Amino acid sequence: MTVPHAPVQDLDSARVVVGVAGGIAAYKAAHLVRGLVASGAQVQVIPTESSLDFVGKATWEALSHHRVLTSVFEDVDQVAHVAIGQEADLVVVAPATADLLARLRMGRADDLLTATLLVTRAPVVLAPAMHTEMWEHPATVDNVAVLRERGVHVLDPAVGRLTGADSGPGRLPEPEAILEAARAVLAAPRTGTGTAARTVRDLAGARVVITAGGTREDLDPVRFLANHSSGRQGWALAHAAIARGADVTLIAANVELDTPPGAHRIDVRSAADLAAAVAERRAETDVLIMAAAVADFTAVETAGHKIKKDETAGHEQEVPSIPLRRTEDVLRSAVRARGQAKAPVIVGFAAETGSAAQTALAQAQAKARRKGADLLVFNDVSGDVFGAADNSVAILDADGQVRAEATGSKARVAHAVLDALVALPGDVPWSV
Ligand code: CTP
Repeated sequence: MTVPHAPVQDLDSARVVVGVAGGIAAYKAAHLVRGLVASGAQVQVIPTESSLDFVGKATWEALSHHRVLTSVFEDVDQVAHVAIGQEADLVVVAPATADLLARLRMGRADDLLTATLLVTRAPVVLAPAMHTEMWEHPATVDNVAVLRERGVHVLDPAVGRLTGADSGPGRLPEPEAILEAARAVLAAPRTGTGTAARTVRDLAGARVVITAGGTREDLDPVRFLANHSSGRQGWALAHAAIARGADVTLIAANVELDTPPGAHRIDVRSAADLAAAVAERRAETDVLIMAAAVADFTAVETAGHKIKKDETAGHEQEVPSIPLRRTEDVLRSAVRARGQAKAPVIVGFAAETGSAAQTALAQAQAKARRKGADLLVFNDVSGDVFGAADNSVAILDADGQVRAEATGSKARVAHAVLDALVALPGDVPWSV
């Protein structure tokens, strides 16, 4: 029997279990615990016995502000091996070793962590870390497939340098990326109850291309025109779409965030680079989400040398003017290229401040009708939203009608956008 409590969707009100298995990457879980606590979560760390050789109990107790148990024989009067799993809103295991994956797949309960994983009906996120050979071994491949089939979120490990001199897939994703993946899973819609409870996979089979960040238009070798976009909303969309089963490509314009586990990342700089990257993938795109802030103007010519001031002329120097020209409107090009076809589904973003003549919403509604995207996500940026964790949007359809509104974490907003997308009339253009 599970302890009934209302579903929790945000980390700031969540009880999160962090399992730590025995691998060298265990030290990175310290940053994950810190991040979760900083996000307001109540964190219970459960290290496996062997992980304590890498990071000791005192570290976990200090970081989580909670007593740390490792054995099913501690706190027996409170039935800890059952209670912790029942009360959890989310379980994250980082690192999840090959051995932990195997034990979980088998349904073993030979320590407090596996017992908790067997008891919990909360969403489970596993962040694997192991040598490439272990990750690619058919036994591990099979274990991962079975766990995913059961609704467990097994993140793809990062590719890179491993403990020794070798390199390949098997690195623990960066703690920030695990944290954001966990946030997206917690905020995701769920179906079923009890052992059948799982995240909806309504984007399984969908190839989703998301542009994120802000483009830079070079004026000379050291200067560029840019904007305030941090890429966080596009990133949240990527994490959310991956949690719902999508195959995600992130076209990132100058974003300094860790790549979401499982996303294919393409880094671009300018509006022209971004337009080319979107066009190149057109035939393999089921959903295009234009979350990037794309420059509308670029320099007619990028100066080959640094534009200098004239030292002798002082303030009398004539101020140089930099001629600009329009860039390609990537969203419009995508709408035009689609023509009468049903793919890709196209989602645009509109950040508006409003003016004396027109409210921000009215501006966005006019833009929705002008642009021809299936959905336009409008946010009012008259306040200070850039780089903020939270967002507030209205989701408009091609007629400018408000389909949905969402306020809260960028993860919550991301799922609201995906909900609106899958609810669009007509068949989805991808096959599951
Ligand atoms: N966009 C685009 N290509 C551009 C500019 C914008 O694809 N060159 C996309 C953005 O990614 C966003 C949507 O168009 O999804 C709206 O962006 P916004 O800058 O608000 O629209 P603009 O048409 O540039 O209108 P404005 O004159 O208000 O800047």
